[in-house]
Amino acid sequence: MKRVLSGVKPTGKMTLGNYLGSFRNFSKFQDENDVFIFVADLHALTLPIDSKLLHSTTYDIISFYLASGLDPKKTTLFRQSDVYEVSVLDTILINYIYMGELSRMIQFKEKSKAMNQSKVGVGLFTYPVLMACDIFLYDTDLVPVGEDQNQHVELAHDIARRFNSRYKGEYIKLPTSYTPKVGKRIMSLSDPLHKMSKSDDPNQSKGVIYLQDDEKTIRKKIMSAVTDSDSIVKYDPVNKPGISNLLTIYSAFKNIEISQAEHEFNNSNYGTFKKAVADACLEELLPFKAKFEEYRKNEAYLNEIFASGAKKASKVAQPVLERIMKVVGLR
Ligand code: TRP
Repeated sequence: MKRVLSGVKPTGKMTLGNYLGSFRNFSKFQDENDVFIFVADLHALTLPIDSKLLHSTTYDIISFYLASGLDPKKTTLFRQSDVYEVSVLDTILINYIYMGELSRMIQFKEKSKAMNQSKVGVGLFTYPVLMACDIFLYDTDLVPVGEDQNQHVELAHDIARRFNSRYKGEYIKLPTSYTPKVGKRIMSLSDPLHKMSKSDDPNQSKGVIYLQDDEKTIRKKIMSAVTDSDSIVKYDPVNKPGISNLLTIYSAFKNIEISQAEHEFNNSNYGTFKKAVADACLEELLPFKAKFEEYRKNEAYLNEIFASGAKKASKVAQPVLERIMKVVGLR
């Protein structure tokens, strides 16, 4: 049985990209693996965030996990900051990673570039260290993540190897990343050359489907998605990024290959195609959203989930931390 672990950062309203890239995939693992899924609340602090938003999004995410079919009896669902061991491990492992390695991380380069250089937080720079600690603390084999996080998992793998060779033993389990083929990169509907991102301004963005949008809004956003001036439904991300993105979304929801979706619409105009995309999307999202609303209302239940998840997670984390403290000489 493999240990599978992943998490989502509670930094704002979740999008269709989060749904197809994360929520929808996690529950597939829980029958045949030992799955740990958490709310990465400490990571949410790496960019300035409103405290109320952080708190409420944390509860949103646990509700999305439950709505997606993650069963707390099978999967350990927890909140990152409840397991203090991760912060101790972070303090230790921060000494085993080089500045050069962290400077090469694409996410750091992209996020810090957009900021006032004198106000880039140290936590944004060391983000991948904490992420590696999440992975190591639970002896993780497999990390299902979106494409943009692969580099961080690869870095974790390198750190584990280096640590193990320095101390001559298998003290840290070597993780592997896993990116699902479909739905791995959902682009903005209004600007299909850029990723559909939860950090886009929710009040302005027509290109982002938020999981909390109502049916009418979702339909409207899809129907007004940017396309191109010919009228062939064909997958060609370079010349037809808008249509290609819609094909990705459609085939993900229908669980079919993109070529099959192309075939289905080879005589259709864009209007017909877009309507089919909206239907496919809503058929799955509406029941998911209804379940989400039910869970989200019940904070007492969500607190119970956090409490029991923290207990289960700590039980696994404590001996791993002990092991690492011992090998470096702290115990
Ligand atoms: N960095 C991930 C994201 O941006 C969240 C995350 C934090 C994570 N720690 C992790 C994912 C460990 C997988 C494993 O969504």
